[in-house]
Amino acid sequence: MRTQVAIIGAGPSGLLLGQLLAKAGVDNIIIERQTGDYVLGRIRAGILEQVTVDLLDEVGVGARLHAEGTVHHAIELVFDATRHPIAIDELTGGKTVTAYGQTELTRDLMEARAAAGLTTIYSADEVSLHDFDGANPRVRYRKDDQEHEIACDFIAGCDGFHGVSRATVKDSITEYERVYPFGWLGVLSDTPPVSPHAIVYGNSPRGFSLCSMRSLTRSRYYVQCPMDDKVEDWSDQRFWDELRRRLDPELAERIVTGPSIEKSIAPLRSFVAEPMRFGRLFLAGDAAHIVPPTGAKGLNLAASDVKYLSTALIEHFQEKSAAGIDSYSARCLRRVWKAERFSWWLTSLMHKFPDDGGFGQKIQEAELDYLVHSRAMSTALAENYVGLPL
Ligand code: APR
Ligand code: PHB
Repeated sequence: MRTQVAIIGAGPSGLLLGQLLAKAGVDNIIIERQTGDYVLGRIRAGILEQVTVDLLDEVGVGARLHAEGTVHHAIELVFDATRHPIAIDELTGGKTVTAYGQTELTRDLMEARAAAGLTTIYSADEVSLHDFDGANPRVRYRKDDQEHEIACDFIAGCDGFHGVSRATVKDSITEYERVYPFGWLGVLSDTPPVSPHAIVYGNSPRGFSLCSMRSLTRSRYYVQCPMDDKVEDWSDQRFWDELRRRLDPELAERIVTGPSIEKSIAPLRSFVAEPMRFGRLFLAGDAAHIVPPTGAKGLNLAASDVKYLSTALIEHFQEKSAAGIDSYSARCLRRVWKAERFSWWLTSLMHKFPDDGGFGQKIQEAELDYLVHSRAMSTALAENYVGLPL
């Protein structure tokens, strides 16, 4: 088999890249370790920046997102048991974010890919990358007890944090990492979200909390918990009680509770691998960087990497120019580090740090007070939240 771009991984990065390339007539094959259903089983943050929505529109998959997604003009911060709205649209000259589940978005991209007749190889085992230092890279994998090989011009490593692409070049990268001393316990429930038009970020002496949504009938909530907590120790009742205690009285009163349909504990990590290009191999999305979920930048960063990468590859094929390819890593990393900074900052501001003591807490209180009373600082939050320009 031969293709122009072999894409490793059928998550949002790989699928969006495939559509952007195909639209420009660049042939691509996606090689995915899991089944399509498995990929759709993952539950992740679904807050889309305008830049991401525009990209989805560009590849023609925006219809359901516009019909079923919810546009948010504000976010809310809760601290000292009081709610503080931040009007992100007003502070950024009219920009908004859209709440639309990442699972739904992945499904839309998968369906568009199938409708366009593009090849995706699911359940590919032992994927390995070869010869990307030269002009003729190859990808090998096993499927149904047979060895296969794809010859290509470029390989796009869109295979997430645990993928094979970054592992293949591990001796050539510098890693930057911070692991946070707590996790997020998340609950999904088929109940109307308590705050359907603004994500709520809560700071309380008991720890962080978050009220989010997947639709007007499906809620997503989180509470900060110790990393060694077990999901089994958290009954639904215990979760709802804890969430209520971390919010202001009015929100706490209004929360509609119900049985959880998913409950899990996720670690929080900041991670960047540099560079993001190795000859004819490129890393994009979670394969190259991870942000803690506070601020929901993961998917949006993946989308901007993929925009830069598709532009660079299309330039190569259509104009025989290497300019985009040569600047890919530096361009991505400039935006990546700003989103890393923002996610780290919002995480630091909103969580209870076990070893910080009274001093850390007082600094948080002062910063939150300053934030909601200073237009300059609210604007800085808002312009990062809606997404920095490409
Ligand atoms: N071979 C082939 N595919 C692989 C391999 C491998 N060795 N390892 C992993 N994969 C697949 C995974 O099964 C997954 O479907 O690569 C895909 C990577 O998808 P994601 O982890 O969703 O990463 P990405 O597409 O970059 O999406 C970024 O996901 O984690 C969130 O916050 C993140 O929202 C952001 C988005
Ligand atoms: C989510 O909906 O899962 C979500 C929303 C906003 C965040 C993080 C997660 O900052």
